[in-house]
Amino acid sequence: MKALILVGGEGTRLRPLTTTLPKPLLPVANVSFVERTLRRLAEVGCDEVVLSTCYKSEAFDHLAQRSEVRVRTVVESEPLGTGGAIGWAARGFDERFLVLNGDVLTDVDLEWVISSHAAFAGEATIVLTPVDDPSRFGVVPTDDGSRVIEFVEKPAPGTAPTNMINAGTYVVEPGMLERIPSGRAVSVEREVFPAMAAEGVLFGLASDAYWLDFGTHATYLQANLDCLSGALREPVPGRELSPGAAVRVDDGVEVAPDADIAGPAAIGAGTTVGAAASIGPDAVVGADVVIGEGAEVARSVLLDGAVIGAAARLDGVIVGGGGAVASGSVLGPGSVVPPGAGPVHVPRGGR
Ligand code: GDD
Ligand code: MG
Repeated sequence: MKALILVGGEGTRLRPLTTTLPKPLLPVANVSFVERTLRRLAEVGCDEVVLSTCYKSEAFDHLAQRSEVRVRTVVESEPLGTGGAIGWAARGFDERFLVLNGDVLTDVDLEWVISSHAAFAGEATIVLTPVDDPSRFGVVPTDDGSRVIEFVEKPAPGTAPTNMINAGTYVVEPGMLERIPSGRAVSVEREVFPAMAAEGVLFGLASDAYWLDFGTHATYLQANLDCLSGALREPVPGRELSPGAAVRVDDGVEVAPDADIAGPAAIGAGTTVGAAASIGPDAVVGADVVIGEGAEVARSVLLDGAVIGAAARLDGVIVGGGGAVASGSVLGPGSVVPPGAGPVHVPRGGR
């Protein structure tokens, strides 16, 4: 089976983190979102994954060397919209395929999604998830037989017919590609799905799996902490520091003997934690990070190569790759430290 991941968006709301790395390459508990998704696709037997890129497409090139699944990058010279991107990247597909939004973190059972689609026998199946405010999403009411009644993208607040929304995971028959006009931008949510719903060939599969659109700083931090806590059933790399401590450390981590590490926490490869520093609870520290003496880091995410000065105190903070926090700084919830000006740290992922 083939799969397509839509990774063309600019991730504007995640700036400045996305000035150096496109959103799908941002790490979630030290493994990039796209690496996590590739592993899940390989697990359900996908043999080819196409990355539909636009913004910073060259940043995805290193993924082509993966062995367990063939990864191909398809570039748009200008954004084609979600539908145009599917039509362009999946052209020539002659069998059923998966489509995944590139900014949705979920552990939905893809095997179940694929087999449900086969049972529905429609032209496409959309995974649905409940949310509190459906107005920011594609709203998808279904009948008793899971058939989609209508597809309403981003309805005005208070007008949504249901709180079940498009979760950004689809199984698609190749015939759907004929519905997508070429040569212009097409929104799958505003053009293609509404037409399919009107014809009764679109199905919705309600899921209660973990689901999060990590498009903002707050949800990106949440995604990392949910992975640490196990709310998102995804692996955290490294070995357990001590039994039951919920602290995972990767290769080559050096922790000063009097540093205090409180789980849940994860520390990436090659990181050093200075004397009397305190990490956690709820801290994701990337690879090759330097934590100065006496620094305190809790409820925060430090991307690879970050440098935290001595006695700095961080609570609820995101530090971009290679970003620097001066000694003695005190940063509170909502603070985002931009990536450093040095070489871009592409998360190594999956070890
Ligand atoms: N290649 C390519 N080209 N990818 C694109 C383009 C494009 O022109 N535009 C968007 N994408 C990618 C984004 O990178 C993202 O992974 C995905 O398509 C969805 O686009 P967003 O811009 O994130 O859309 P949204 O979050 O407002 O809404 C979508 O996702 C919701 C779930 O999070 C819709 O599919 C909604 O219906 C859905 O509920
Ligand atoms: Mg989105």
